[in-house]
Amino acid sequence: MVHAVLLGAGKGERMGFGVPKQLIKIAGKTILEHTIEVFENCEVIDNITLVISNDMRIIVEEIITRNDYKKIRKIITGGKTRRESSRIGVESLEANEEDVIVIHDIVRPFIDCDLLVRNVEGARKYGAVDTVMESPDTIVEIDEEGFAVNTLLRNRLRRSQTPQTFLYSIIKKAHELAKDDPDVDSYVTDDCGLVLRYGLGKVWTVHGSEYNIKITYPIDVHFSEVIYQLKRVRIFPGVDDLKALENRVVVIFDNDSEIGGELYNLMTSHGSKVFVFSKEVDVDIGDSEDLDKALKRVFKEHGKIDHVVNIDGTSKMNELTSLERVKKEIDTKYIGSINVITVSKKYLENTNGMLVLAQFGCGENHHIIHSSIESAIVSLVRTMANEEPRIRINVVIPERTATPLRFKNFGEEPKELLLNPRTVALIIAALLNRNLTGSVIEVRKIDEPHILEELK
Ligand code: CTP
Ligand code: MG
Repeated sequence: MVHAVLLGAGKGERMGFGVPKQLIKIAGKTILEHTIEVFENCEVIDNITLVISNDMRIIVEEIITRNDYKKIRKIITGGKTRRESSRIGVESLEANEEDVIVIHDIVRPFIDCDLLVRNVEGARKYGAVDTVMESPDTIVEIDEEGFAVNTLLRNRLRRSQTPQTFLYSIIKKAHELAKDDPDVDSYVTDDCGLVLRYGLGKVWTVHGSEYNIKITYPIDVHFSEVIYQLKRVRIFPGVDDLKALENRVVVIFDNDSEIGGELYNLMTSHGSKVFVFSKEVDVDIGDSEDLDKALKRVFKEHGKIDHVVNIDGTSKMNELTSLERVKKEIDTKYIGSINVITVSKKYLENTNGMLVLAQFGCGENHHIIHSSIESAIVSLVRTMANEEPRIRINVVIPERTATPLRFKNFGEEPKELLLNPRTVALIIAALLNRNLTGSVIEVRKIDEPHILEELK
């Protein structure tokens, strides 16, 4: 079993907002909710213990009930220091010696599932894990008066984030020993520090993430809004994702992408019923009547629609030279996406289905209009996801992909720089099985070997 302990009993004094910072909203949702959601949606985590202060209890309970989280096992009252809150959290667990305990600051909402998985794997292997980052700045030691006394060697220094993850036997022992150690708080500020102080074993380090900041000062709230806008997730398809395609009814709108065919082959070979409509042949997504007719037809035949995927191909534009072309581009890509959302919503609500908008990147050139439309679609999806909890809606943004159309528009490019269309199809297919909404999924060439590896 893997138990998560989320520490949220702090007062946020450095933030100085009058309310604990975990209740501040970023992109319409409290920091606490952002963090809990990552743990809820990450398969490696079995249950969550929330450590909070008594003054927040009513509001936290209201948030938990409203969101209907499934993994929260307990909400307990923390202590005066972070260490005490962590100890109380660990002591409250009903765990076995070999279970894994993931301890995380609730005010680090940009944690991702991949980091949790690597933490848990590390703890099983080494007993204790810290999440760390290189330090871009040189770190100097100063004396009481503020004079620098020592420059530390940067290549051996790391900044420690959370999660910190342990075998239950180790972290339980560490906190027990700390209880009888009067000096502990002068020397140690985190859980891994305890393991080292009492010589309870080695602490393995895993590489953290630039996004995983601890919201501490008011400026961090501004950074958070920006990170939220920029943050993209990666997914690695597994065999279960493909099994889940069985008996799904899927509608694909392919607007010049030439990925529709690839997706069709992949999904039908795993038992989905797939309908591909393309602009060239039958449905122009700029026309909502056309769209509606297409979906009605599929619904009539199969009685449900589980997923709608809208794929926009790359187009070659002489940027800004022709306003006519710009308008046309906005019509097909942006207005088209809105049309797809509006028309498919009612079908997807009935199946708790997912809508995927895939936007292909163009590479370095020809991207002014393309990238501004892409940003608009990303914010559209993020806002929709908040307002429409009954459907899941996500954007997939693959890097340059080797399709014939791309070659036609942009000439021959070295294949080793381009994604294989099958990789993109795999990511879209796997995404449909994931409990994600409002996310931007990136597909990168450098991840391709790892993506294919998982399916072997
Ligand atoms: N924390 C806790 N119990 C405490 C103190 C801190 O659970 N007695 C938690 C915080 O809620 C936070 C994490 O530990 O998620 C990291 O602490 P920090 O960033 O210092 O948060 P605060 O203590 O709330 O902020 P400040 O120090 O500015 O008051
Ligand atoms: Mg603090």
